[in-house]
Amino acid sequence: MLPTRSGRYMVGLAPRGAGLVAVGWGPDGGAAAVPVAATSSFEADLDLLPLEATALGTRNVHGAELVVRGADGLRGARLVLSGEVVLAQDDDGATHLVCPLADDVLGIGVRLHLRTHPGHDVVEKWAELYNASEQPIELLRAWGGAFAIPARGGASVGLLGGAWSREFTPFDVTLGAGTLSVGSRQGITSHTYAPVVTVVPAGTDGVVRSGGADVGVRYGVALGYSGSWRMTLDAVPFADHVRVAAGPDDESGILTLAPGERLTTPVLAGVRVEGDADDLAHAWHEYQAMLARTRGPEHRPVVYNSWFATTFDVRVEHQLQLAAAAAQVGAEVFVVDDGWFRGRTSDRAALGDWEVDLHRNPDGLGPLADGVRALGMRFGLWVEPEAVSPDSDLYRAHPEWAHQVAGRPLETLRNQYVLNLGRPEVEEWVLGTLRRLLGDGDVTYLKWDMNRSIADGGQSVLGGDDWSWRHTRAYYRILDALRAEFPRVTVEACAGGGGRIDLAVLARTDVVWPSDETGPRDRLAIQHGFLGALPAWTMSSWVTDLPDLLDRDREGAPTSLEFRFVVAMAGVLGIGADLLAWDAATRERASSLVDLYRSIRTVVHTGRVRRHGTPSDAACAVQYTGADAVVVLAWRRTGAADLTVRLRDLDPDARYRLRGDDVGTSTFTGRELITDGIAIGWTWEDCAVMILDRV
Ligand code: GLA
Repeated sequence: MLPTRSGRYMVGLAPRGAGLVAVGWGPDGGAAAVPVAATSSFEADLDLLPLEATALGTRNVHGAELVVRGADGLRGARLVLSGEVVLAQDDDGATHLVCPLADDVLGIGVRLHLRTHPGHDVVEKWAELYNASEQPIELLRAWGGAFAIPARGGASVGLLGGAWSREFTPFDVTLGAGTLSVGSRQGITSHTYAPVVTVVPAGTDGVVRSGGADVGVRYGVALGYSGSWRMTLDAVPFADHVRVAAGPDDESGILTLAPGERLTTPVLAGVRVEGDADDLAHAWHEYQAMLARTRGPEHRPVVYNSWFATTFDVRVEHQLQLAAAAAQVGAEVFVVDDGWFRGRTSDRAALGDWEVDLHRNPDGLGPLADGVRALGMRFGLWVEPEAVSPDSDLYRAHPEWAHQVAGRPLETLRNQYVLNLGRPEVEEWVLGTLRRLLGDGDVTYLKWDMNRSIADGGQSVLGGDDWSWRHTRAYYRILDALRAEFPRVTVEACAGGGGRIDLAVLARTDVVWPSDETGPRDRLAIQHGFLGALPAWTMSSWVTDLPDLLDRDREGAPTSLEFRFVVAMAGVLGIGADLLAWDAATRERASSLVDLYRSIRTVVHTGRVRRHGTPSDAACAVQYTGADAVVVLAWRRTGAADLTVRLRDLDPDARYRLRGDDVGTSTFTGRELITDGIAIGWTWEDCAVMILDRV
């Protein structure tokens, strides 16, 4: 039995020592194990049982998470218990179960791990694989486990997908029977699919009887991995479960375990909630708080980023003028984006040559860093450490460092190649470069970008065909080393917008850049999807002057300064506009909007999130509920009707007073706010910030 924050996850032993089987999940352990009786000689009990993790060879009719092949061509593994199942407590209070399995014929060992923590409701699963044979073993699929979600007749599956500038768009798929597969072959998490799904069992709309009442049940499954990946949802006809499994992509790469070698699979995380989509989001956010909010609020500062103001034209004098304006509006960090390094005057050259451009800035960036600090801000830099331009000194010196398949022409995307971090000398060089940039302490904010997919992967120089795995492990090692050596440095993760956002990135960085799209209505839609699975305190969001790229309904699309600020206040507010193009009055307004954000930031970053309506509605809102205050941000299309929001998550017996109401007429009980709701008072024409203090 593994206790979670509000329930438990229960496993038992499978017949004939075949590992672990899920027997219950929920507040009281959920439903009891369904006894399985094979109805014909075409399926065995191990195919029908909800095994926690299994191999092709143990389970032969339905899918399995581990597919292996020995050097002699022997395919599959018959896994059996090879020792005691151990249930122990980790130092952080987590309950941790380890189940050792092995196939002595092939010579492979598998230690299956399950972990839960009293601080959240997520169950983590992963596996350690060990080659105990004298021969290499190919891992045709190396996934760490599966969640067998109780569902008869399939499920309704919620995905978050998209493309560049339209990340985190929700899609619903009805999966009656068959296998649904999503993933990335791009060497990064990708804009196409986020590695997280929502599963609502079919037939009942997810409604089950629990504790004497009908409740909606939904499940979430997410993968913590940032290379090429795959997730499958398998709805076998007439089965009792939809099986959700994921891991490194089994199509674009094959991992090989040398004799004596070990490999730990990425973590697969699953959560069950009784409630709606926001209850599921909250369960994810509670888990992510333990991954990523272990770092203090100083790592979620108000950023000014000069990219949109200057693009590649980075001149210290000009940057100092922008910095003065940024300080005036309340920025806490000043970040110089692309264009600061030697020869980088367009996107056609210089990636890899990470030295200050002394031609354009003869005194270096020192005067800028000093100036920024004198203005009371921290100083930050953009880097794209995995990238190399064909026209760069680095590429001329080390053409072999780029991902490539010998004999095939290399292809550029955005005029650049990708360095193969899987080569130890490249990993060392990247880490050395970053240490050099951070070493003198001037730079305390790093925006780590990655602007193309790794289409030229395919071959690992070290033998084997696991380029994405090796690249990704090195990416993690570098981030881990930076965090250990430079704990004061805030790291923002970016990949042409939201191309590399997943649980493993959240665990190693502080904020993420969900999209290059900063047009306010489009951004609202992206943020709505993001908050359904990812937390507000990582959601970097800048105010810019750019229009929506996609929302063509310009007539209904207000873009006032206030509207844009309230959009950015929904996460980690930053500013990316050309401040020198703003007149004094606009900067004044911006400065008071930043002050307002600062006054609500703790509630936005630590409160419970509820989305009221969606950005495609005429009006919508997001509610953040903290212990002492509730913040409601709301937006509407021009000319849209008023909005009343029935608040959630409040104490019905507590009293709440609308901030700014000095005469005390706007005091409500929690019950009134829940039942009757609160009419949004539009602070500005089409947007609102309402703060209710618990009194
Ligand atoms: C990517 C990023 C942008 C910016 C540019 C710089 O597109 O997502 O924010 O940093 O690169 O080249």
